[in-house]
Amino acid sequence: ISFTAVIPAAGIGQRMQSKQAKQYMQLQGKSVLEHTLAVFDTHPLVSEIIVVVSPNDVEFEKMAVQLSTPLKTVLGGDERYDSVLAGLKSLPSHRWVLIHDAARPCLRTSDITRLIDSLEHFKHGAILASKVRDTMKRGDFEARIETTVERNQLWHAQTPQLFKSELLTEAIESALAAGIGLTDEAQAMEFAGYAVGLVEGHDDNLKITRPNDLALAQFYLDNQLG
Ligand code: CTP
Ligand code: MG
Repeated sequence: ISFTAVIPAAGIGQRMQSKQAKQYMQLQGKSVLEHTLAVFDTHPLVSEIIVVVSPNDVEFEKMAVQLSTPLKTVLGGDERYDSVLAGLKSLPSHRWVLIHDAARPCLRTSDITRLIDSLEHFKHGAILASKVRDTMKRGDFEARIETTVERNQLWHAQTPQLFKSELLTEAIESALAAGIGLTDEAQAMEFAGYAVGLVEGHDDNLKITRPNDLALAQFYLDNQLG
């Protein structure tokens, strides 16, 4: 069994407030996206990588990425789920797909392996996630506490998210048709009624989102615990 990685990299990175899209910003002399691609390139069970880029992208080609894993690019859309769907539609059905944000360059190869191994328990798929550490409150719209939410059951959803391509495509399309505003793949699978596993990864698999995150990612890459 082998896996396809689909890497959505077609965002504009509005929250980074930078002219250059965050997936092309430099970390240790390489772009964020090149770091992300390298993690999948080194994984022995990943046999194909699909990068979803914006139709306006002028940077991907310039990077002249050299990988040992076959690499294909596909054009994305306005929303992250449009980009993910474009990636999925470029694949044959019945593939196991690892969907992973380009903006998460600190993913560990060993966590991909643990996610894949979890399919033994979670036959419809699973995602990497990390446990929350703060006490969690639900507030009302006037910022008054309604309740304290049981922390033991709360996780931060990360990527990769691992599902079968055709089931995920169907699930995303039905969720969108029902007006659900999807922010990850698992949400579509949940909506379709599948049980989705949570596999505890590492906090350092951050999604570079705001300006400070670039320095944090740099720190994690320099100090990775393996
Ligand atoms: N993404 C994508 N297509 C989109 C939007 C996002 O492929 N239309 C990708 C981004 O490039 C990123 C990943 O999805 O790798 C996670 O999205 P996010 O962190 O939200 O990135 P942006 O949408 O670029 O950032 P922002 O929301 O701040 O604009
Ligand atoms: Mg976004």
